[in-house]
Amino acid sequence: MSEPFDAVDVIRTKRDKQVLSDAQIDWVIDAYTRGAVAEEQMSALNMAILLNGMTRAEIARWTTAMIASGERMDFSGLSRPTADKHSTGGVGDKITLPLAPLVAVFDVAVPQLSGRGLGHTGGTLDKLESIPGWRAALSNEEMLAQLEDVGAVICQAGAGLAPADRKLYALRDVTGTVEAIPLIASSIMSKKIAEGTGVLVLDVKVGSGAFMKSLTDARELARTMVDLGTDAGVTTVALLTDMSTPLGLTAGNALEVRESVEVLAGGGPPDVVDLTLALAREMLDAVGRPDADPEAALRDGRAMDKWRAMIAAQGGDNDAELPTARHTEQVLAPADGVLVGLDALAVGVAAWRLGAGRARREDVVQAGAGVELHAKPGATVRAGQVLMTLHTDTPERFDRAKEALEGAVTIAADGARPATEGIVLDRITTS
Ligand code: URA
Repeated sequence: MSEPFDAVDVIRTKRDKQVLSDAQIDWVIDAYTRGAVAEEQMSALNMAILLNGMTRAEIARWTTAMIASGERMDFSGLSRPTADKHSTGGVGDKITLPLAPLVAVFDVAVPQLSGRGLGHTGGTLDKLESIPGWRAALSNEEMLAQLEDVGAVICQAGAGLAPADRKLYALRDVTGTVEAIPLIASSIMSKKIAEGTGVLVLDVKVGSGAFMKSLTDARELARTMVDLGTDAGVTTVALLTDMSTPLGLTAGNALEVRESVEVLAGGGPPDVVDLTLALAREMLDAVGRPDADPEAALRDGRAMDKWRAMIAAQGGDNDAELPTARHTEQVLAPADGVLVGLDALAVGVAAWRLGAGRARREDVVQAGAGVELHAKPGATVRAGQVLMTLHTDTPERFDRAKEALEGAVTIAADGARPATEGIVLDRITTS
């Protein structure tokens, strides 16, 4: 088949800082998806985009072309409004687990199409798979039925949703082009728009454990995604939230499920509770439930009941023991003082090396592996006090995990304060 464009011309256009035409974008995404543009050509184009950027119109067209590469879901037949949350990914970010059932308490359908972890950030499906019997893969019909019956579903995104993104993301992962804001924004938003949610609340992470290390970059990413969602008719809001230190006190699959269940039981670490409530309020406001009280639903057991129904609907045994790792080691505080820094990236890499994450897509994760924190920034500590417990089934991993943690802990003189306090740093809405 003769092609209307030459991939080399498209690459040259972006290399020379010109604007790609709609027809060029539509063609390159389609041709790459069907294998008519080579991997090395697409990687050169990705790098040109990373270096030279894209206009708002180019990003919108790129996103539309990725949506058109696959199917679109339709939730319009449901009896309730739909609201979804997406996080750009961080260490100890288990918020989807308590959030989805919590919002569903208020007669909102919450479809959370989630992924597996790659690298130092964990994957929601890996976490839930530590619950005996729980099943991630649902057909579209099963998903819709669960949304109608229970209200909340967390499951694997089907292969039919934005297949161009699946291919592009794998290529970006190995070509140093993940961090391009137009590519991250279009990747996330193509899947969310194709999924068909009415409301989308974005949790854009900022700090060492996130893609975006600075507030300026995170604001630009959030603004780009909010504009894309709004232009596509999805009510979209973004919170910028701190990822300089891990969220909560655990990073690792079963460890994070346990912590999420504590939150659903009305307890749990304050930062996890605060962020869960902040995101829940955004979702409930945007679907027109401003008077809903999510804090009360955590306290009085309604969110827990919804969680149990959601887990049971996917085959999970709510009463089974969660797996624990066979071996543990402790990391001690090196000095007296105030813990002012506990680096998210270092903890994420340590959890990953202990077996909680995977280096290649086909790797199997350990359900019990990870890092448990016993103090968070702001705490006063004493030399020799236990700061972290490392968990793994394979003790030969301890040394490499401890290497990752070298320099992760900063202790200052009594009276010092951590650099950031409070989890929500900013809020971005339609411009
Ligand atoms: N998550 C995605 O789905 N895509 C990206 O590009 C980055 C994070």
